[in-house]
Amino acid sequence: MIIHVNGKDHELDIPGNTSLLDVLRVHLNLTGSKYGCGEGACGACKVLVDGNAIPSCITLVANVQNKEIVTIEGLERDGELHPVQQTFLEEDAFQCAYCSSGMIISAAALKSKNPSPTRQEIIEAMQRNICRCCIYPRIIKAIEKA
Ligand code: FES
Repeated sequence: MIIHVNGKDHELDIPGNTSLLDVLRVHLNLTGSKYGCGEGACGACKVLVDGNAIPSCITLVANVQNKEIVTIEGLERDGELHPVQQTFLEEDAFQCAYCSSGMIISAAALKSKNPSPTRQEIIEAMQRNICRCCIYPRIIKAIEKA
């Protein structure tokens, strides 16, 4: 099967019921997406699939063939960080940073659809991303600023 990740086609000889997260981390060595809960609840594994932030841990690779997959490693363009990546750095929106790639992916999906979300819209869009360090105020500030 062929999957399209970060602008490149990858031909893989793997069962279609392999999780997209395993494919990214184990087969493609893209380790920015993290394994947290493994059941679609924490958001640590989120990637963009056709512009939507989805949990890759519960997504079968067979279901994302012919789709545009973007991971945290693919967000920058021509050496420039994505605006959300940049403001996460500026606002120090990290503590342990385990949730960060999923947070940034969800925020990037939100901003692509709604460039100027209200604080309430940000909170609602980030509902499925959990930060165990609870630095939500800095995360929200970074998203507002992006
Ligand atoms: Fe996928 Fe938690 S690891 S949502």
